[in-house]
Amino acid sequence: MQQTLLMLKPDAVEGKRIGRILARLEEAGFLIRRLKMVRLNPQEAQAFYRVHEGKPFLDKLVAYMSSGPICAVVLERDDAVAELRRVVGATDPAEAAEGTLRKDFGLDKGHNAVHASDALETAREEIAFFGLTLAREA
Ligand code: CDP
Ligand code: MG
Repeated sequence: MQQTLLMLKPDAVEGKRIGRILARLEEAGFLIRRLKMVRLNPQEAQAFYRVHEGKPFLDKLVAYMSSGPICAVVLERDDAVAELRRVVGATDPAEAAEGTLRKDFGLDKGHNAVHASDALETAREEIAFFGLTLAREA
């Protein structure tokens, strides 16, 4: 079994889409192992997205991700990292495949409902970032 990190972005929380998104993930075979709602401050959002340092969209992304509460969720299933990226869909909801979360719940590229870890090592780091690393039995 593998774990990965999902984040419900401020547009999903504000738009009351938490329940529907989590239901879709449970239906897709993921087990919710940990869950936390927090509001990131700009420094924390910047640290979370430090891989994008220097990118033109970073400042807006940081401002947006610290504009309201988010939900951090540890999801588990076989091949969880790749499966979650598949279910989440392309970054731009307009380009996301039918049936993906971003297609169905995203508003635009900057407000695309969810974040998903992009690799196993990133998942470990992002789960730790939120203090959600699982002990043997959490
Ligand atoms: O989230 P994902 O891994 O699909 O995309 P990313 O390239 O790692 O970018 C992180 C986030 O920055 C995206 O989810 C978008 O919300 C935002 N972004 C943006 O606003 N404009 C771009 N041109 C690229 C990304
Ligand atoms: Mg990414």
